[in-house]
Amino acid sequence: MKIMVVGGGGREHAIIKKLKKSEKVTEIFALPGNGGIAADATCVNIGAKDIDGIVNFAKENKIDYAVVAPDDPLVLGCVDALNKIGVPCFGPNADAAIIEGSKVFSKNLMKKYGIPTAQYEIFDNAEDAVKYLETAPIPTVIKADGLALGKGVIIAETREDAIDAVRSIMEDKVFGASGNRIVVEEFLTGPEVSVLSFTDGKTVVPMISSMDHKRAGDGDTGLNTGGMGTIAPNPYYTKEIADVCMETIFLPTVRAMTAENRTFKGCLYFGLMLTEKGPKVIEYNCRFGDPETQVVLPLLESDLFEIMEATTNGTLTEEMVKFSDKSACCVVMASNGYPQKYETGFELTIPTDIDGEVYVAGAKIEDGKLLTAGGRVLGAVAVDDTLKGAVDKAYNLVPEIKFENAYFRHDIGQRALAAKEEK
Ligand code: AMP
Ligand code: GLY
Repeated sequence: MKIMVVGGGGREHAIIKKLKKSEKVTEIFALPGNGGIAADATCVNIGAKDIDGIVNFAKENKIDYAVVAPDDPLVLGCVDALNKIGVPCFGPNADAAIIEGSKVFSKNLMKKYGIPTAQYEIFDNAEDAVKYLETAPIPTVIKADGLALGKGVIIAETREDAIDAVRSIMEDKVFGASGNRIVVEEFLTGPEVSVLSFTDGKTVVPMISSMDHKRAGDGDTGLNTGGMGTIAPNPYYTKEIADVCMETIFLPTVRAMTAENRTFKGCLYFGLMLTEKGPKVIEYNCRFGDPETQVVLPLLESDLFEIMEATTNGTLTEEMVKFSDKSACCVVMASNGYPQKYETGFELTIPTDIDGEVYVAGAKIEDGKLLTAGGRVLGAVAVDDTLKGAVDKAYNLVPEIKFENAYFRHDIGQRALAAKEEK
């Protein structure tokens, strides 16, 4: 089968490396891919948001199956457009991708179907929002309705900060039209867990849980990033909590989407907070998480392509999805200065003989050399019998990978290891 993977980051590299292991997969194209992915797939210079370009490529190259990985093309209807020309896809159509594309939609869905989440109010003009914030409980959380590169969430510690956030989102439009509406939300506390799941619209099969490290600096300090590292499984996510999540969150969400005529197929990502009052949904994503995928897929023992096809065909079963009982750790190596200003174009060397995997996020090939080309450059990933072993092995990989101005966090997995010790 000829497969096409839309996207070009570390998540897509992990998906491609796993798909390569499937006997059914004979050829993989990445649109656009990147300089590191080029070692594992044929990269084609078509951007992930260029829906017409993607459709034409699929038609001309007789693609048998497409995996649409990033949020933008999903929300823009890439799956709908590919289905129209007869290409089956992994990923939701636009009607279902709205679960990530609009926070107003997802909050209203949760309210209507009784799915636990933070209390909230919706505003479509700054004046009403400001008035509400004059007496609202503080801290509070302000969220732009639409996609904002993962940056559309502001936690305001003071009333002034909350009002500033409203003005910058709704009046200065720092996130463009994504900020035409906002959600103002109750501030929750507790450990965060990411649970990616496969679903065909009826059955939902959670993958192994994981923990992201979103802040740029050690000790969870500094700015929010796309993710500086991950570990799996997440020690806070016990079997008891998993059962509660299945009953109160996962199944109700999948059923709610079908009841709304928005049947969701693909990977549904649950961003959860384990509060004192039980697990609550912080966010839904309509896709694999990045960098969660980089620790989840290495632990998947089953054939990824077969699972993907089953989500498309409506034949997904729990038995199809088996995870090992090992642990994984991903340390993201970024360009110094990320997520703000950083330099790129430095030569990148990745040894081939390593005890782990390197998933490349931002690199290009120029004159036969691999050069850094993004904020997040790659994820160094290791698997071991224990979490401690996986963390140590991942950090042993880091000095083997060389590029100028490399930056990484030194404490990926430490919070999880401490949580394990508490138990
Ligand atoms: P998101 O972009 O939706 O993943 O949000 C970014 C981060 O903001 C989350 O990972 C949480 O750490 C935090 N966050 C979002 N919503 C809330 C909330 N209601 N209460 C506390 N923290 C939140
Ligand atoms: N790691 C969070 C996300 O993919 O949105």
